[in-house]
Amino acid sequence: MLLLGIDVSTTGVKALLIDENGGFVGSATSSLRLSTPQPLWSEQNPLDWWEGARRSIREVMKNSGVKGDKIRAIGLTGQMHGLVLLDAKGDVLRPAILWNDQRTGPQCDEIRRRLGKRRLIQITGNDALTGFTAPKILWVQQEEPQIWAEAQHILLPKGYIRYRLTGEMAMDRAGGSGTLLFNLKSRNWSEEVLETLDIPQEMVPQTYEGPDITGWITEEAAKDTGLRTGTPVVGGGGDQAAQAVGVGAVQPGIIALTLGTSGVVFATTERPLVEPEGRLHAFCHAVPGRWHFMGVMLSAAGSLQWHRDVLARDMSFDDLVMETNEVPPGSEGLLFLPYLTGERTPYPDPLARGAWVGLTVRHTRAHLTRSVLEGVAFGIKDSFQLIRESGLGQIEQVRISGGGAKSPLWRQIMADVLGVSLATVNTTEGAAFGAAILAGVGIGQFDSVPEACETMIKVTGLTEPVESRSPTYEEFYARYRALYPILAPEFEAIAATVN
Ligand code: XUL
Repeated sequence: MLLLGIDVSTTGVKALLIDENGGFVGSATSSLRLSTPQPLWSEQNPLDWWEGARRSIREVMKNSGVKGDKIRAIGLTGQMHGLVLLDAKGDVLRPAILWNDQRTGPQCDEIRRRLGKRRLIQITGNDALTGFTAPKILWVQQEEPQIWAEAQHILLPKGYIRYRLTGEMAMDRAGGSGTLLFNLKSRNWSEEVLETLDIPQEMVPQTYEGPDITGWITEEAAKDTGLRTGTPVVGGGGDQAAQAVGVGAVQPGIIALTLGTSGVVFATTERPLVEPEGRLHAFCHAVPGRWHFMGVMLSAAGSLQWHRDVLARDMSFDDLVMETNEVPPGSEGLLFLPYLTGERTPYPDPLARGAWVGLTVRHTRAHLTRSVLEGVAFGIKDSFQLIRESGLGQIEQVRISGGGAKSPLWRQIMADVLGVSLATVNTTEGAAFGAAILAGVGIGQFDSVPEACETMIKVTGLTEPVESRSPTYEEFYARYRALYPILAPEFEAIAATVN
């Protein structure tokens, strides 16, 4: 008996098969391209997601020698916040506007104006950010009224795949809370927000908890994919909530730290807690009846990737990072600000920019690299601080995952800067794995998500902080913190000059 997790990420659609013990059976990924028709824009065609999903599902089944009747349930996850608009016939009206699209600054201001920032945060748990769905809807209302006039249905990226698989329009609550149209407490659409933003209630679909069954594979989808007609598809969760499920961060005290292109600090809460200024995201968890705080740094491993691509293209990541062993903590006074694609936490600023500060002729490539690793760790610490201050209680364990977590040296820097011990786990398949777990819970294979996680996920290693490095890092963290407020006006001026 197998479970299938499907992850519609920005870079590809992944299909993952696991067995009932969480054992890896196979995975296949179809790459996706991003389109940037104008500066600050980021779009993808939902039909490409469906094509990618079909291909990955077929491929993983073929490569693992698995027939559709062996797959008992399917869980969906994927990039959050993206806006998919369908007409009355269910056809796609325009390319989806993605989470990393930055065109909606004016619409964010307008949402704050119409609802009042305080009221907005009180209801949704969040401030208006360019990445979220609601400002994208306002943008279409204002800039493409002919498209808006035809639009009948609003979905998220994974929701479009669900629609093609089951014929049902539905939304998981973890994803729904990332639209900025949810009442965080009631885990459902906010009539007040919808009304204020002139979004008819009929346009948003019914919502479901992560393990709830939302529909069944249709005959047509079965023909397209090789899946069995009638296989249940559960609600699933946004990629961050599903990732947290996939590493077992499903109860308060266990924090998930993901070092992917972006860096995410994810903390489960038992109540709908809110950071009063909206500097942390507050969303529904994919675990029924639980919520979470989240800090998102936009360029984490993405910063290292950029650094390697630009300055050491011929080197492997391992070699590049190993070089930094000789550089002392603090990179001899060199600081890196990782805001290469703007920032979200703690500075919701699309115009923030990266910087090296403190360069001298003593500094080598190894110093530059180490300062990047440290700068990302400092940025992650910003989210940790906010989470610590938000009444969450004791942090018992931090589970680290994602591409950047594979480097022992970066894990050590991270542990030293954060002053916490970092645990690695046996599951490395990320959000798709979490989605498959939710599917298993949905068909009653486990009583609850925490029970499933306890059965399937084990801690495999710990990276302990070295206390003697703490004073140095504290000192450099203070310098790092001082830099953004000083540079922010210049970042804005620079952006105005080049745009
Ligand atoms: C979360 C977020 C990203 C996207 C893309 O708030 O914006 O994680 O979901 O992966």
